[in-house]
Amino acid sequence: MSTKSGGLIRPVAIAGTGKYLPEKVLTNEDLQRMVDTSDEWITERTGIKRRRIAAEHEATSDLAVRAALDALENAGVAAADLDLIIVATVTPDMAFPATACFVQKAIGAPKATCFDVSAACAGFLYGMELARQFIASGAAQKALVIGADKLSGIIDWTDRNTCVLFGDGAGAAVLQPATEDSSEILSAYSGSNGNLDEILNVPGGGSRLPLTAENLGAKLNTMKMAGREVYRHAVQTMMSAAREAIDRAGLTPDDISCFIPHQANLRIIETIAQKLQVSMDRFFVNLTEYGNTSAAAVAIALDEAQRSGRVKRGDHILMVVFGGGLTWASSVVRW
Ligand code: ACO
Repeated sequence: MSTKSGGLIRPVAIAGTGKYLPEKVLTNEDLQRMVDTSDEWITERTGIKRRRIAAEHEATSDLAVRAALDALENAGVAAADLDLIIVATVTPDMAFPATACFVQKAIGAPKATCFDVSAACAGFLYGMELARQFIASGAAQKALVIGADKLSGIIDWTDRNTCVLFGDGAGAAVLQPATEDSSEILSAYSGSNGNLDEILNVPGGGSRLPLTAENLGAKLNTMKMAGREVYRHAVQTMMSAAREAIDRAGLTPDDISCFIPHQANLRIIETIAQKLQVSMDRFFVNLTEYGNTSAAAVAIALDEAQRSGRVKRGDHILMVVFGGGLTWASSVVRW
């Protein structure tokens, strides 16, 4: 087989993709009325103009189910035929059962093994690589991988350092064995650095700092971020991860038609483009509309890139992601 990422037994394809964005739009102008910020500051520093916010009754699995159904339809695969459902999320419906089990129940996939992956914004590519290995080894035939987050529930809406950056959403992909005329995942790479846990986290709500009245009062259930530190590591790590996946696929940056990076900040993406010496028109960007949707971001971008015709059959695409943990991952796909 053509992939150079570990001598796996059979090549794996992305058979279809899907997405779901909640209806409610929160603009920079809306945020100006909530915290001391401006459309100009947010646009200049991040590129973000709007983001979607889930309704109160919508849980992460509700977003995930909508994206999943969209991806299954796009792939022409029945939910009943799925062997595996992986949901990448840091905002699960509950501590347990896994959000993937709620998706299983809603879409009707009784054969599937279901579990969640916690790798923040890198989670979708972590999940995709797990699914790829299940399929490559023959342990599964058809897998559904979803990146879904309702970050609005863990944002401190009085903290201008974070509340302007994020939005809610879900993206999904269906994976199955590749055929001669299908797409093929050519390479995958991932890594983590637990030493930098403190620059991006939600400290409370787990076993370390349970949700006592005191911890809730201190807003320990909301996201804390050292923005500049995260920025610096995001640039360095996404650049080296991009190079690694391209190299493992036996390609060069010139061979990549479409770069699909994590959608956190336009300046991060522009710096990576500059350092890789790739023009920005080869980068897919939708953060203007949705902000950073965490695990969903790269999955939503992949779906929009392929449905808009930006990615065509035979094109090489690179996905690269970075998130809290720290975690990162990258993958090259021949579409
Ligand atoms: N509006 C107005 N002013 C603001 C805002 C705001 N929303 N937020 C911060 N500022 C102020 C700061 O208080 C600071 O003021 P000071 O100079 O008086 O102290 C000034 O703007 C500059 O702040 P910086 O943090 O230095 O601004 P920077 O240019 O670094 O931009 C940003 C901040 C956008 C957060 C940037 O650092 C960034 O994008 N970091 C990466 C974030 C990211 O990608 N996070 C997600 C990772 S993925 C995941 O796992 C969730």
